[in-house]
Amino acid sequence: MVGGSPLKGELRIAGAKNAALPILCACLLSSDPIELYNVPDLQDVRTMLKLLQQMGVQVYFPDANQRNHLVLNASTINTPEAPYEMVKTMRASILVLGPLLARMGQAKVSLPGGCAIGARPVDQHIKGLKMMGASIQIKKGFIQAKWGEGQDALQGNSIVTDMITVTGTENLLMAATLAKGTTVLENAAREPEVGDLADLLVKMGANISGIGTDRLVIEGVSSLHGATHSVIPDRIETGTFLCAVAAVGGEITIHDCRPDTLDAVLAKLKEAGLKMKKTADSITATMSSRPKPVSFRTSEYPAFPTDMQAQFMALNTIASGGSHITETIFENRFMHVQELNRLGADISIEGNTALVQGVEKLSGAIVMATDLRASASLVIAGLAAQGETQVDRIYHLDRGYDRMELKLTQLGANIRRIK
Ligand code: EPU
Repeated sequence: MVGGSPLKGELRIAGAKNAALPILCACLLSSDPIELYNVPDLQDVRTMLKLLQQMGVQVYFPDANQRNHLVLNASTINTPEAPYEMVKTMRASILVLGPLLARMGQAKVSLPGGCAIGARPVDQHIKGLKMMGASIQIKKGFIQAKWGEGQDALQGNSIVTDMITVTGTENLLMAATLAKGTTVLENAAREPEVGDLADLLVKMGANISGIGTDRLVIEGVSSLHGATHSVIPDRIETGTFLCAVAAVGGEITIHDCRPDTLDAVLAKLKEAGLKMKKTADSITATMSSRPKPVSFRTSEYPAFPTDMQAQFMALNTIASGGSHITETIFENRFMHVQELNRLGADISIEGNTALVQGVEKLSGAIVMATDLRASASLVIAGLAAQGETQVDRIYHLDRGYDRMELKLTQLGANIRRIK
């Protein structure tokens, strides 16, 4: 890409990756078909569909050439297993554990290893399922789970997780829908993606209260039925494009988004100088000055999301002053710092805080993407830099953004995919 062109025009936001992934897994809870709209066409979604198909789930695309509308039928599950090859490419594969165990009485899921942004253990998923009576052993790198001795379903219980975990809450929520009796999930994640999953589960016949709060109460039912659902818009994709226009200037209108899920992010963008007009499902954003520096710390929803940290760091690199960014969710989510510094940024790290001193201009270079959000931050920095920037290993980007380069081209950016 060659930096310097302001962004101008309109774009549509895709469905949320982190809502679509658990929602695809929820199909395992029912023998009836689940029809989904607004499923983003991403590498992670393709990987999840492949995993579900390997288990015996049938996947249909009712409209030819349209991958956003699909029907999943899990009437037959032959192999309730997630092999290492799948889990190692996508940690969200762990989301099949709760539903498989709840409906089939057994599951074998490879234990995820560490990942680029942190150790990311799944001990809370396992602890919660054990509290629901499951017998779980770790053998040869696999989580081997089954209903406890004499059980013919999981058993509801009161579960308080040690920390707030998004996929942990989702796994336990899905498992609890088919458990006997009442499950109370305390310290539950309040991310909108958890709420979207819960909304689908309710359409499938689940009995859930407290959706959107940190206390979910689930009255188990004996079976769930088919449903139709549209995945919520991706708040992180929305925030990423807003950061891009804040960094390079211009005016864009973002359609099919949910500004109400982005309060913390929009507040920081406003502080950076971005002017915004919102409706219920669109944002028009204008930037005509150098960004002001914004300091923040990442935290669980509704606070500032870790998934927007890297993109805001790119914005801060060219701000008119210094800022500090503290990452509290993942212990190793600063790998973009070295790469941003290769573009001329002035960032140093002290513990879990990055100190960013804004510079007048970044200058283009070859940089390497290390994870999904780091890739997005390098694209933003490249669009703001003088001269040409090449971002390598963009397969990370394709895991979570639906054709980002095409959307940017439509907005007038000078960017292309080399391979
Ligand atoms: N944790 C544990 N034990 C557990 C579970 C979590 O120690 O059993 C720790 C993690 O190591 C981490 C913290 O708790 O330090 C929070 O992790 P969480 O479980 O919430 O993360 P996750 O569910 O694995 C989801 C998103 C991530 C997003 C985080 C935080 C999905 C598929 N992934 O991951 O998305 O960063 O929540 O909001 O929903 C991304 O999209 O780029 C991405 C990484």
